[in-house]
Amino acid sequence: MLKVVKLGGAVITFKESYKNLRKDVLSRLLKEIAQYYLETGTCIVLVHGGGSFGHAVVSECLKRVGYIDPSCYAATADAMDQLSGFVRGIAIELGLPAVSIAPRSVCTISSGSTVCNLDVFRKLISRGLVPITYGDVVYSDKGFEVLSGDTLAWLLTRELEAGELIFVTDVDGVYDRDPKLDSSARLIREALARDVLGYLTESLFQADVTGGMRGKLLEGLRLGVRGVKVKVVGGFIEGNLYKALVSDSFRGSIIWY
Ligand SMILES: Nc1ncnc2c1ncn2[C@@H]1O[C@H](COP(=O)(O)OP(=O)(O)O)[C@@H](O)[C@H]1O
Ligand SMILES: [Mg+2]
Repeated sequence: MLKVVKLGGAVITFKESYKNLRKDVLSRLLKEIAQYYLETGTCIVLVHGGGSFGHAVVSECLKRVGYIDPSCYAATADAMDQLSGFVRGIAIELGLPAVSIAPRSVCTISSGSTVCNLDVFRKLISRGLVPITYGDVVYSDKGFEVLSGDTLAWLLTRELEAGELIFVTDVDGVYDRDPKLDSSARLIREALARDVLGYLTESLFQADVTGGMRGKLLEGLRLGVRGVKVKVVGGFIEGNLYKALVSDSFRGSIIWY
């Protein structure tokens, strides 16, 4: 069974500080993935967000120019390649046969829907590689658009028929209210996707144009994902991602699609 793991930009970078990597957190999360991969040989696709690399660059030029012009596209793509280079470098050091695949080379957006040719993912996975991909800028019929790491994670899950999708994020799961705004928010341990959406509001981080927890979970329903177990996992707790990979006993939420 294939597992798709999405590392949130908020967990692997300091979102409010320009191009600032949380190297210790990223290394620990990759170590947990590598341990799982080396122990079980399970096929894994790794997706990561933009955090203070992609999101910061693209929101700056959106503010300045109003749309993604060629320089903005180039700068955003460059920022994401830098971030993905860090992720890949550490992953390879830890023994994962990791390879980056740039969404801009395989996906386009047309009339608001994303079309990807995922053959290269299928082929590399079948030969034991661990593809690393990410939120990116892609060609669209309206110019250039952002394809979020979340959307990509869902598309990979649907098209490659993954059994599990794991979102690693900066909060300990899905709560009945935004836990950053309300300390009495309660963690939802397990629920059906359509039942939790009512609780969710937008991300606090303004530069994140892709919708925070609500956008993340809504996207799976919008894309018609069915029959998938989705885990939303707190990424700052040591060993938690490993636990979520091997079992259902972890700090976080299980959301059924
Ligand atoms: N009900 C909720 N439960 C959990 N998180 C929520 C909720 N409502 C809003 N959020 C926000 O969504 C954020 C996670 O989404 P986001 O910032 O996009 O993270 P990522 O970088 O993992 O994509 C949390 O940090 C939190 O502030
Ligand atoms: Mg996000």
